[in-house]
Amino acid sequence: MAEVILKGVTKKYGRTVAVSGLDLEVKDKELLVLVGPSGCGKTTTLRMIAGLDDPDDGEIFIDGKPMKGVEPKDRDIAMVFQNYALYPHMDVYNNMAFGLKMQKMQSSEIEARVKEAAKILGIEDLLERKPKALSGGQKQRVALGRAIVRKPRVFLMDEPLSNLDAKLRVQMRAELSRIHKRIGATIVYVTHDQTEAMTMGERIVLMKDGLIQQQGEPMQLYDDPVNMFVAGFIGSPSMNFIEGKLTKTYDGARFEAGGLEIALHGRRLDGIEATEGLDVVLGIRPEHIEDAQFAPSGAHRAVLEATADVVEPMGSETLLYVTAKGGMQVTAKVNPSTRAVFGKLVTLSADLDKAHLFDRATGLAIK
Ligand SMILES: Nc1ncnc2c1ncn2[C@@H]1O[C@H](COP(=O)(O)OP(=O)(O)OP(=O)(O)O)[C@@H](O)[C@H]1O
Ligand SMILES: [Mg+2]
Repeated sequence: MAEVILKGVTKKYGRTVAVSGLDLEVKDKELLVLVGPSGCGKTTTLRMIAGLDDPDDGEIFIDGKPMKGVEPKDRDIAMVFQNYALYPHMDVYNNMAFGLKMQKMQSSEIEARVKEAAKILGIEDLLERKPKALSGGQKQRVALGRAIVRKPRVFLMDEPLSNLDAKLRVQMRAELSRIHKRIGATIVYVTHDQTEAMTMGERIVLMKDGLIQQQGEPMQLYDDPVNMFVAGFIGSPSMNFIEGKLTKTYDGARFEAGGLEIALHGRRLDGIEATEGLDVVLGIRPEHIEDAQFAPSGAHRAVLEATADVVEPMGSETLLYVTAKGGMQVTAKVNPSTRAVFGKLVTLSADLDKAHLFDRATGLAIK
């Protein structure tokens, strides 16, 4: 068992509240991704779990045991940092064995553990090489290996892939997920990259300014964001936000923004008094706006005429950056066979069943 629980954990640096009343539960064998923009408190959270920093308030439990006063070395946790440093004069084997030798472990046990980790990581052929003869991805794997051989209760990983180039990062991402399943470890994985969070996390905790904004399975955050911050952070390119006024109608609602009028059928809008026109933001993801020529027909769609500012063919899809009447700018991810060209009008079709509504004053989602 290796379960980590944080209760009301707060950490301040002078007047900066790095982490504020954080409640977090990492289940046994879970890969939990902590994601959020720079400075939101991710590293601070990991450092407190590891015991490198003490919380100003709140409690941390590992396997039900309070960690207050427990030294980092006695927590049985391994931390993998972004800027891992391998010992340049030691070969891969000894880089991985070093920590165990320091613990005065028997050399037969050390050898067994290093070989096992090397096998899991696919670096069995590299054990005699020095770090300078390794690629970035291989070095990264050795750094992971150093953590794995210790067989800790919990792994804390702080942006461990951010030094790698894009292609290698994608590869290592998949590999890490595989390794996680294979060793059945509890992992808290920190990243500021929403794609990494979406693809790796069994569960995502999204933070901003030291506070949890939303937690849940990746698709839950994507489909059902609780506020505009979550809606804009998850998904790439980001969700389009259109400011306008919302009025309740007999079968739903009407959204109006600078000459654009959209009927939203079947929206219940519980608890909303929107008879006069409420200030709202309509959110719609680029992937839910199609070139009208390729859009399926359906009642719950809105047509939008706009001028194409940028046309970016990506191969499997094309990104369109357009400006509609009234100056409204919208991004759409459309069929690659689109005939949209720069400077010309294009007709787009948005799937309104996928549209989100937010209260403009609070940023909170309107259900
Ligand atoms: N030792 C410190 N002294 C003063 N302020 C600090 C210290 N460490 C962190 N902070 C502040 O606490 C806040 C949270 O920092 P933290 O390093 O946890 O963010 P992060 O989410 O890891 O960001 P990044 O994605 O950039 O690594 C920031 O405002 C940061 O400036
Ligand atoms: Mg950090």
